Amino acid sequence: MAAQLRAARRPGRALAALALAAAGGLLAAATVGSGPAGAAGTTLRDLAEAKGSYFGTALTQSNLNSSTITAIAGTQFDMVTPGNEMKWDTTEPSAGNFNFGPGDQIVSFAKAHSMRVRGHTLVWHSQLPNWVSSLPTAQVQAAMEKHVTTEVTHYKGQVYSWDVVNEPFNEDGTLRTDAFTNAMGSGYIADALRTAHAADPNAKLYLNDYNIEGLGAKSDAMYALVSSLKQQGVPIDGVGFESHFIVGQVPSSLKANMQRFTALGVDVAITELDDRMPVPASAANLAQQATDYAYVVNSCLAVSGCVGVSQWGVGDPDSWIPDFFSGYGAATMYDNNYQPKAAYNAVVTALGGSTASPSPSVSSSPSASPSSSPSSSSSPSSSASPSVPPTGAACKVTTQVSSWNTGLTENVTVTNTGGSAVNGWKLAFTLPGGQSVTNAWNATVSPATGQVTASNLSYNAAIPAGGSTSFGFQANHTGNAAAASGFTLNGVACAAG
Ligand code: XIL
Repeated sequence: MAAQLRAARRPGRALAALALAAAGGLLAAATVGSGPAGAAGTTLRDLAEAKGSYFGTALTQSNLNSSTITAIAGTQFDMVTPGNEMKWDTTEPSAGNFNFGPGDQIVSFAKAHSMRVRGHTLVWHSQLPNWVSSLPTAQVQAAMEKHVTTEVTHYKGQVYSWDVVNEPFNEDGTLRTDAFTNAMGSGYIADALRTAHAADPNAKLYLNDYNIEGLGAKSDAMYALVSSLKQQGVPIDGVGFESHFIVGQVPSSLKANMQRFTALGVDVAITELDDRMPVPASAANLAQQATDYAYVVNSCLAVSGCVGVSQWGVGDPDSWIPDFFSGYGAATMYDNNYQPKAAYNAVVTALGGSTASPSPSVSSSPSASPSSSPSSSSSPSSSASPSVPPTGAACKVTTQVSSWNTGLTENVTVTNTGGSAVNGWKLAFTLPGGQSVTNAWNATVSPATGQVTASNLSYNAAIPAGGSTSFGFQANHTGNAAAASGFTLNGVACAAG
């Protein structure tokens, strides 16, 4: 597999002309707050959520043993993709023997840190145990359906989206030959999607591939496949662009390509972002990497229907790149010592944050973003002790709903428009009839229907004056997918928008 990947992923592409320069991209990493996670209030997840998006990372079971990695993962990212733990060779190493222990550990970590989970992956030619590839073709369909049903059922309600089929295409856009095409032809894809949908109708179902980020033969093939699946009414909700880039070679057609997919009525996501370079890394390549990362994030933000960006691994020591692309590395936003690189700063800037060091002489103002508020009285790290009752505040709420037949996700951003910090918040609101919350992130939400209240978690209790916080939830609906309404923050009615 390694050789195959190397051959497939190293074609020299014409250098894309990247016009977007990231203003903050070249700031020294040392200016980004304290500690490896970056400054409080400027986290990638907070900034992404304020824009109705998410920022994810891959995590492996062994990553969970590192306090450095988990500290960054739990604070900077709000979406987790298991690096290997939900793949077939782990989850069903021999026929009918299922092992969800490693995947469960990743899901527990995600829950404990109010992160969502991208399930990865159900049907893939790689990391596929031998017993499947050596089955008689007449038995492959039943094995695939059983695998999909069992795994999706196990994680039902806990997974935001599934990469149902991973990497189905060759570089020229023909369908890859594997155990599944040998047994079922191209029909295995629709069958896998339908099977997954039956097991968890609320999970978003994706097809995921690499080298489909720009316009070209391979993305044309994915586009044709998704059009045809949509026409046939096959449940398909999204396309994952893996985005394993080489510095300076991010396709300039990324945005246009995303837009043609969203026009088909599916979401898109950047699912496995990294941007490799020859190692040791040169200053010029690290600067180009910052430009590339900002370009990718800006492209996603510019396309409604691009739901979020995930990086493949937290830092350079966790990246798969050195093992698969000899001589290459330094592909993530965190260096070998887990210090944020220029790419991290560039992403913060792209997400609307600030990477400048807080200056103690600057006073907090209502228009200041939470990240730039230096006042200790309004800093999230000074959240009130439990004995101080939450007080009311002037507020503003924006909502963003993304819905499908029977389900929806809603992101809510609440801004403290009052003159003092809120320490501990409860946001009450009314859900439209027929909506029932199944899970939430960055807040606890209860009850599930009707007049509900979202309460802060410990890490996001404080909303500085002028600052905002975001949370979201997933709900079932029976036809009315309208946004929640009638918001009150600690008892005070909030303005809309
Ligand atoms: C990689 C993992 O990061 C490695 O640990 C593993 O050895 C091989 O797979 N595309 C995908 C991911 O969809 O699942 C791959 O992950 C990287 C390429």
